[in-house]
Amino acid sequence: MTTTVALIGAAGHGAWHLRAIDALGERVRLVATCDVQPGYDYTDHRRMLAERKPEVVVVCTPPHTHLPIALDALDAGADLLLEKPPVLSLADHRTLAEASRGRAVQVGFQALGSPTLPMLPDRVGAVTSAAVAGAWWRPDAYWTRSPWAGRRGRDGALVNAFAHALMQALAITGISPPWTLSLDRYRTRPAVEVEDTATVRLRVPDGRELFVAVTLCSGEFVPGDITVTGTAGTAEVGYTEDRLDGEVLPGRIGLLENLLDHREHDAPLLVPLERTEPFTVLAEAILTAGEPALLDPARLKPREDGAEIPGAAALVRRAAAERAHFREIGAFQ
Ligand SMILES: NC(=O)c1ccc[n+]([C@@H]2O[C@H](COP(=O)([O-])OP(=O)(O)OC[C@H]3O[C@@H](n4cnc5c(N)ncnc54)[C@H](O)[C@@H]3O)[C@@H](O)[C@H]2O)c1
Repeated sequence: MTTTVALIGAAGHGAWHLRAIDALGERVRLVATCDVQPGYDYTDHRRMLAERKPEVVVVCTPPHTHLPIALDALDAGADLLLEKPPVLSLADHRTLAEASRGRAVQVGFQALGSPTLPMLPDRVGAVTSAAVAGAWWRPDAYWTRSPWAGRRGRDGALVNAFAHALMQALAITGISPPWTLSLDRYRTRPAVEVEDTATVRLRVPDGRELFVAVTLCSGEFVPGDITVTGTAGTAEVGYTEDRLDGEVLPGRIGLLENLLDHREHDAPLLVPLERTEPFTVLAEAILTAGEPALLDPARLKPREDGAEIPGAAALVRRAAAERAHFREIGAFQ
């Protein structure tokens, strides 16, 4: 069986999806690429949908454009692989959920296809908490790569670069609203309106907790290490490379492949839209939380393509280990 697929938003991260489509061989046939930039089959997605009638549409446009494009694709009868973050508010999430009844919407949180997730209950029992540490470097060019990059209400280390860390921790803990949220957010570039460094704490009434400490200003790389604590033990998960207690596990299931399995023989979707609603609630709270504190340049270590926070990797590791906000460990005072 061959399923027709189209890609909307082809020039950026869409290139990754083109490779994923190609890797599925005869299971899929790419019938159109669409981008507002020249060089693709279509510049107008509505025209593409009407003329090519794809069965599956991959939406890989900027996050604030997802909702209208997804609604158009659903209206044209397609199932969706919609990039993360699916939408930027709970109201939009519910609008999309309503419009997608009877259709499949898979959201691009690819780490939920990880083989580490089903193994966790055996290792730790019932999960009581997850703490994430991530320290990456993103140069000045990262913040000017697209018009929405670094823009208030649209981007940020938490909702974009480390979105998978948040979603993975939400999935591992099973935490959903109502919750108590506290945030501690910083930025190092005056022209960037959003956080590049932050901690997040979420607690639910039964005592389960999720803690995330991340930065995009680190000279030392910490890929994204999740310490999972449960009733029967702890485990260390590397969500970017499917590492579980030091061992990298093969067998991640691709989200497009899983969407095809769902269409062909009703396999459960790995990341159905409803599974991502807690992420959307958290993302909206972060996106509307106001401006992060601007760090004093005197604290930073300048480099050609930006400025590092000295000792950033150690800071995120300590914050995650203690489940303490940067402000609570006196990090930037
Ligand atoms: N799953 C992942 O690991 C991952 C990684 C990177 C990006 N993403 C997500 O992928 C999406 C795209 O990110 P990006 O960095 O490629 O963004 P981008 O700003 O480069 O936009 C992607 C493309 O969409 C095009 N575009 C914009 N509006 C359009 C429209 N109305 N119709 C057709 N094309 C349009 C742009 O011209 C661009 O080529 C975002 O949701 C992002 O969060 C996911």
